[in-house]
Amino acid sequence: MKNIVILISGRGSNMEAVVRAAENEGWPARIAAVISNKPQAQGLEFARARGIPTAVVASKEFSSRVEFDAALQEVIDRFAPDLVVLAGFMRILTASFVEHYAGRMLNIHPSLLPLFPGLGTHRQALESGAAEHGATVHFVTAELDHGPVVAQARVPVLADDTEDTLSARVLAEEHTLYPHAVRLFVEDRLSIHDGEVRIMRDAPAETSSI
Ligand code: GRF
Repeated sequence: MKNIVILISGRGSNMEAVVRAAENEGWPARIAAVISNKPQAQGLEFARARGIPTAVVASKEFSSRVEFDAALQEVIDRFAPDLVVLAGFMRILTASFVEHYAGRMLNIHPSLLPLFPGLGTHRQALESGAAEHGATVHFVTAELDHGPVVAQARVPVLADDTEDTLSARVLAEEHTLYPHAVRLFVEDRLSIHDGEVRIMRDAPAETSSI
């Protein structure tokens, strides 16, 4: 059984998708905790209702990134995570925090990385005139939105799209993409070679026999 800790800042719809898939598909994993840096994050309600342990480490109570990340790391590590899943966790992370979870922290970003790192991805996609847009799940490295890519989902950009319609189309894909990528990790099917992710076709024998 792998322990997954999910970090959120708000709505938590990607967290919800991962939790539901883990339950419905019987993953060899448990959602050990959902942790938010915002006390009012909507997603906390869903986690509490499901009986998942929750915690809040309120970023606004810390005067520096270093102190916040240290406190957050301490709380995360109480749950002995095999994997940390960033699901709409709106924080820039310190290098030492990222290093601590190297190879075991995933993020979802609403663009086809390396296009449009950072915020405002849907607006950027519209302004660029791109014919397609999408979302990327990647391992987290010190450079924001630049880690090795696990999986991407593509959607068309339509002539009459607004930021709202485009983001809704991408989000619907995220809800399939993120559980898919997390499941690959849980099944030990991911490895990183020279900064690139390799995906094994089948789970290794010791995992698939569980
Ligand atoms: C998603 O679009 C995700 O890609 C981005 O932030 C948004 C979070 O939405 N990182 P939710 O909190 O998962 O509903």
